[in-house]
Amino acid sequence: MTDAITTIVIFGATGDLAQRKLVPALFNLRCKGRLPRGLRIVGYARSSLTDDQFRKLMWNGARELGQLETRAEEWEAFARDLFYVCGDLTVPGDFMRLRQRLSEVSEGAESSNVLIYLSVAPSLYEAAIKGIHASGLAEEDTGWRRVIIEKPFGRDLVSAKALNKVVHQVVEERQVYRIDHYLGKETVQNLLVFRFANAIFEPLWNRNYIDNVQITVAEKVSVGDRGSYYDGSGVIRDMVQNHLLQLLTMVAMEPPSAIDAESLRNKKVEVLKAIRRWTPEEAAENTVRGQYRGYLEEKGVGSGSTTATYAALRLYIDNWRWQGVPFYLRSGKAMTEKVSEIAIQFRCPPHMMFAPGPGVKLTPNVLGLCIQPDEGIHLRFEVKVPDQGMAMRSENMEFHYGSAFRDQAIPEAYERLLQDALDGDASLFIRSDHIEEAWRVVDPLLVAWEGGGSSPPHLYDPGSWGPDAADDLLARDGRSWIRGCGVHDDTDG
Ligand code: BG6
Repeated sequence: MTDAITTIVIFGATGDLAQRKLVPALFNLRCKGRLPRGLRIVGYARSSLTDDQFRKLMWNGARELGQLETRAEEWEAFARDLFYVCGDLTVPGDFMRLRQRLSEVSEGAESSNVLIYLSVAPSLYEAAIKGIHASGLAEEDTGWRRVIIEKPFGRDLVSAKALNKVVHQVVEERQVYRIDHYLGKETVQNLLVFRFANAIFEPLWNRNYIDNVQITVAEKVSVGDRGSYYDGSGVIRDMVQNHLLQLLTMVAMEPPSAIDAESLRNKKVEVLKAIRRWTPEEAAENTVRGQYRGYLEEKGVGSGSTTATYAALRLYIDNWRWQGVPFYLRSGKAMTEKVSEIAIQFRCPPHMMFAPGPGVKLTPNVLGLCIQPDEGIHLRFEVKVPDQGMAMRSENMEFHYGSAFRDQAIPEAYERLLQDALDGDASLFIRSDHIEEAWRVVDPLLVAWEGGGSSPPHLYDPGSWGPDAADDLLARDGRSWIRGCGVHDDTDG
């Protein structure tokens, strides 16, 4: 008899996320010997497939990512633990067949744990949760039961609260793992290490030394074939409410006393609660929305759509540490390059006794925390140019994961998150109150942008840094967008 069998059930298993992210991440974890012994993966979706056809589908998805050719044998062994059940989330009988299959795959085990992954359209979350309940899949009779829920969790505060209510009728909060894959990125976790395992930055990490914080998550890709999803979401729901606010909380949070899930998440929620709330009018004043030229021609996009593909925001955090320090956030599709980074701009020296060299602007120190693609940290400071009087220029002190950890590839975010969910560590997952607070921050903005009478989005050229109006937002404060990593001048223009 086997001690314990753990089964991961993927709802929506024939979809892109399962093929390109979840199953490859699980395969990598298996190759690294990090999955529990006796782990089974059961795909659940509407297509009619046999186990073998499902294995083939997963192989094709994973193969596109490369590296599988050299690991075909390991895949063979891994694929033996992949199973498939054809079913609909709204048909109770299908859930019962799924339950039956789960008993079969864990037959003979002393205990059986189940991790359910909702990788389906958000409109199906409620049906999925209700089906889990009705079929008894959430009952912890033979082992633990956990549910991972993908983003977006709700469309606004009201719908997120309603969804939380439905979820809590079926499972307790300790069983719920709301995912934001940004938290699985090594460089995002490194924000904690950088801030709280080094003593030299913390004394500077406040309004006395920091002038402003800029968070950029730019993507080169357009909405591509995701037009019908994206048009109903837009950049605020797709990126800002989740990924960008996660980055903001990691930068702005107070040091937790321990790294456990509750201590960490309490501190993050405190930040969200302290973000100054806007009225819809203030939301309009403190933000810029853009849409790239050509968006309306994308497949699945409604004619005349005013959905924003770009957003710039100015937020303030009303607490002792951050009072008066603007946090500028921007994110967009079809931009110049793919980059996610945080730039912390420090105050200028209170008195400048050196005259900058001819044509040289004095630039404040910038700490650049590069989340991707060139994962690393840059610290920019002024240096004396040799043999030119007291002329100065800015130089960077740099750390790159790529060169510092040559033999250690940075794993996909989903590897860490799946492993944590299997281990029962919810630190990198989002608690219900966090989700609701994050919606409270952006709700007035959604009202301002989507309410009748709002002005249309500013158009910008694909391959640019977004609309000029986003530059004006900072120019009104006497500032400009900066790049924290990878470039030496102080503007991105
Ligand atoms: C997803 C969004 O959550 O994040 C996508 O839905 C976006 O629109 C993606 O492209 C970006 O993730 P990453 O890891 O490539 O920065």
